[in-house]
Parts: sequence; structure tokens; C-alpha cells
Amino acid sequence: MCGIVGYIGYREAYPVLINGLKRLEYRGYDSAGIALLDNEPAIFKCVGKVSDLENHINDNPKTGHVGIGHTRWATHGEPNDVNAHPHQSMHGKFILIHNGIIENYTELKEKLGNRGYTFNSQTDSEVLVNLIEFIYQKGKVDAEMAVRLALNKVEGAYGIVVMCADEPDKLIAARKGSPLVIGVGNDEYFLASDATPIVEYTKSVIYLNDQNVAVITQGELVLKTLKNIPLTPNIQQLSMDIGEIDKGGYDHFMLKEIFEQPRSIHDTFRGRINLAERTLHLGGLYHVMPKIVEAKRIIIIGCGTSWHAGLVGEYLFEDLARISVEVEYASEFRYRRPIISKGDVVIAISQSGETADTLAAIRLAKEAGALVLGICNVVGSSIPRETDGGVYTHAGPEIGVASTKAFTAQVTVLAMMAIQVGRKRNFLTDDQYQRYIQELTQVPEKIEKILKLDSTIHKLAEKYKDVNNFLYLGRGYLFPVALEGALKLKEISYIHAEGYPAAEMKHGPIALIDHHMPVVVLATKDHSYDKIVSNIQEVKARKGIIIAVVSEGDTTITGLANHTIEIPETEMVFSPLLAVIPLQLLSYHIAIMRGCNVDQPRNLAKSVTVE
Ligand code: AGP
Ligand code: GLU
Repeated sequence: MCGIVGYIGYREAYPVLINGLKRLEYRGYDSAGIALLDNEPAIFKCVGKVSDLENHINDNPKTGHVGIGHTRWATHGEPNDVNAHPHQSMHGKFILIHNGIIENYTELKEKLGNRGYTFNSQTDSEVLVNLIEFIYQKGKVDAEMAVRLALNKVEGAYGIVVMCADEPDKLIAARKGSPLVIGVGNDEYFLASDATPIVEYTKSVIYLNDQNVAVITQGELVLKTLKNIPLTPNIQQLSMDIGEIDKGGYDHFMLKEIFEQPRSIHDTFRGRINLAERTLHLGGLYHVMPKIVEAKRIIIIGCGTSWHAGLVGEYLFEDLARISVEVEYASEFRYRRPIISKGDVVIAISQSGETADTLAAIRLAKEAGALVLGICNVVGSSIPRETDGGVYTHAGPEIGVASTKAFTAQVTVLAMMAIQVGRKRNFLTDDQYQRYIQELTQVPEKIEKILKLDSTIHKLAEKYKDVNNFLYLGRGYLFPVALEGALKLKEISYIHAEGYPAAEMKHGPIALIDHHMPVVVLATKDHSYDKIVSNIQEVKARKGIIIAVVSEGDTTITGLANHTIEIPETEMVFSPLLAVIPLQLLSYHIAIMRGCNVDQPRNLAKSVTVE
């Protein structure tokens, strides 16, 4: 996601835009830009933060009462000056800023190229601005109609604001899938991705809905649908203050990011799963897929939560694609003199793409001649730049130090990879392939259902916020989730917590269990269900406190456990995506009750760029 702003009114637009971008920088911060329309359009943009943009603009003239601005979270094309927004069409007629993903941009780009259009950037957004210009000039229509006709050809998500050189006193805004808010002032209008940049000027706002188009001139706003049907603007009054808004109304970024997971998982498979065609495409692996299919071994490398996602990947690739996998702590791998063969495929998992140990490990693997792939959340970060290919998780900026939506996005990518490779190696039938693709698209809705248990989990947190130890148990696909749940709790609440394979408990940790010890058991229905029931009985026999995450409708464990959290059923391979949600919420609420700083826990950093 990114931050977009727009202004039209009596003020000088520049200060409104630049301050607005600063308020939205949490939404994306790899490049920024502004366009002003005075007599002539003036576009300023550069890689880096908004402060870099201010330095870049420096003493250039920045007059004009109409303008747009963008702070980017790249999805197509790495962060650099050329890929920064705003983008101008080839003949200079239109200037656009865009939040979202144009899924059919490749097809549109090819068609425009066949009609003589050339492109400066690698972005999908530049395709859209040229499509608008093409329709405007070919169809001899006005700017607003050109925008509407172009958007009717677009598949994907957008929040856009467009300026036209021939109609200078006008902003045209539209949204589908990406947020856009209009602030209504006295003879002035503000546009932004959320209300953060608007609230200091006006509390009267209009939240655009999908397929809405707003045409704003000096002092007048017209709202309509993409099909040109007039709409009556619904002006609401903002009740939040600025501090709350940049967290989307949540108390903390971590909570916001936990609740963003239906959206971030959807964005991670958006444009990659096509249900109509029943296909799955991972563009970043297209050129290396034959090598992955032929791989004798996959080595997954990561740290912390990313290492936990890698453990889920081990189950996925071995189960679905029948490829041997080993998962390595990057810090251990890089110093162990590992045996790496040319036939190995190394997958580095990293939210930040900057973790020093992971970066060093992939350099070692590349020197050894392995194919090295990345699964990262930050486009253009170091790891994607140094790998032979990979898949970006489109989770959007993860601000909270404790990783939540990045973990589920990483597991989503690993699942798509394993399904794709499993099908190509003929270890998945077409029916299984279709079933998995279909079920994966149902996961966001199932997570929405689990998030509704937040108040129940809040009550549970109150009971155990003062304990000194927690144990987390899981089997199979849910063993890595037990580790992740323990990490979440210890890193934000500072309670000691350990994750274990449930069966391993008998080989030592069971000695820890007494009536003070809460034991979280991940016990959803799968092939090892009966075994996990036995493990629960072993804990119960020692008076442990059992908090069980079970499948909806479970009657066996609900009779044994002190507390049960029921979650929807799903394919076993996707169970980590659902089972982790209650654990994230439990750790969040316990930490808050203990007065901890959940967004910046003590001693931690968001990206560990040192050894
Ligand atoms: C996760 O909650 C932690 N903040 C930490 O373990 C993190 O996962 C680890 O530092 C790896 O970071 P990366 O994914 O950016 O490489
Ligand atoms: N897809 C566009 C790009 O990569 C917009 C990304 C965003 O929402 O910031 O430039």
C-alpha cells in the first residue's frame, strides 16, 4: 500500500501536500513525489523518504492551488526515481498517482506499445496513465470520461488521483480496492488514502466506495459511479484525532496489522490466483521454475518469525511437492561451512529484506552455485536485489516490530510455491491443485471470522497476564505455529514461553508442568488429532492449564481443556494461517495488560541489519 494526497482550493497546494505525505509515510516510504499544476505542470519525485523529496525540490518554484502527492510502497518496479509517482503520460496530457495493483498491466502495456506508446518506468501505474491518455486522444472524450473508460478496462485494485493538462483546475479521483477519502472544506477539497492528512483542515469527509469516481473543480465536487450514474455524496464527521488515524483507529500498529491479515493475504495472492481460469502464476519464479521442479533439495533460510515460516515451508514442499527440505537459521548456516550443491535451491525468507545474517547466508549460497530465491515484503530491498528470483509478499508496510501479517503472507507465498511445484512434479492431481487454490482464496474470510473472537481472547489474556511461563505445543504443520506463538508472547510481553512439538513434551518439558503453567495446544482436526488429544490428557494429568485452539464444533477437547478457542476448518496445509491468529491476539492483549510497548518492545529492532 502507499500514501496518496491531493488538494484543490484557495491555498498554496505544496505545503498541504508535503505535510500530508509526512502523515502517510507509515503507509510506504521507498520513494515520494509531488505534482503541481499552475500554468504548467511541475513534477518532483525521487527515491527515499518525504524529507528526501523536500531536499530534492529545494528552491524550485512550487506554486499552484492544485496538486497531488504520493509516498510509494513498491509492488511493480524497484524503488528509484523513475518508478516513483506521480507518473506522466507519454504526450504529457495526464499526471497520475496510484495506490494498488493493476493485475492486467502486462496485457495493457503490450497493447499500448503496439500503438506507439513507450514507457519510462517498470510500474503498472504508468501503464494506466498512458491508457487514460490513449483513450482521451483516440476517443476525443473529456478527461473524466477517459478516466472512467480506462478504469473499465482495468483488473485489480486502485486508488488514483489524476490531473489533466487541458483541464488544469480539476482533480479526478477513483477507487476500487484501495482506500480514498475526500475532505470537504470551505471552497477547498482534500484527498488522501486515509483521514490523517485531512483532519487538521476539516472533519467533514467522504469515504469513496469501490467504483466511485469524484470530479473536483474549484468549489464543486461531483460524485458518480464508473458507469456515470450520479451519486449523492455522504459527508460524515470524523471523530478520531490524528494520533489514532495513522493506526487506522487501532491502539497500536501491531493490532492494526493483525486485523489487516485478511487483506494482506488477499493482496499476496491477488493477481497470482485466477479463480475463473483456475490457475496460479508466480511471475517472479517463471524463469527459474524448471530448476525448482528439478531440485533435489530446498534449503530455506531465515531468522526469527521468518524462520518459523520456513519451517511451515518444509512441511509444504515435502508434503505437496515431495522435495527434500532443510530449514536453517541464517546465523548458523553462514558459519557452519554447509554443504551446498549446484542442484540445491535456496529460499531466503525476510520481511525487511535487510537482515544481515540472511543476506550473508544467501551470498554464501550464491558463491556455491545454488539457485537463490527470496520471499520478501520490501520491494527493492537488498535480498531481492541479490537473489536470482523470488516472490514478494504484498503485505504492505509492517511497522510493529513483532511480525504478524508478514508471517501469514510468507506462509501464503510458500503454500502457492509448493502447490505450483507439486502440480508440475505431478505429485498433485489437477483436482487437488484446484481444491487447494480454491481453499486458499477462502482463507481471508475465515481469518475475518477468527478476528471476531478478539474480545473472548482479551478475557483469556486477563486470566494469564501475570504468569511467568507459557508452553506452546503443536504437531505437524502446527509445530512451527507453536514456536511462533511462543516467540510473539516472549518478545512483546517478556513472559518466558517455549514452543515444542507436542510429542516432544514427554522428553523433558513435561517436568515443567504444574497448576501454574498455561499450555497452549494447537489441536485442530487433522491426521494427528488423536495423538494431540493424548498429549492434552498428559498435561491435564499434571494439572497443567490447557488453552486449546480447536476446530469449530470440536466436542472432545472442549471437554478436556480449561479454555478452547474454536477456529474454522481448512485444508491441513493452510492450518498455520488460521491457528496463528488467536496466538497473535493473545500475546498482544497480555502484553498490553502488562504495560509493555507492543510496537517497539525493549531490546528489539524491526530489522536486524547487524550480526
Ligand atoms: C519477529 O516478530 C521478530 N521481530 C524477528 O524475529 C524477525 O522475524 C527477524 O528479525 C527476521 O526479520 P526479517 O523477516 O525482516 O528478516
Ligand atoms: N503498484 C504501484 C507501484 O508499484 C503502486 C504501489 C503502491 O500502492 O504504492 O508503483
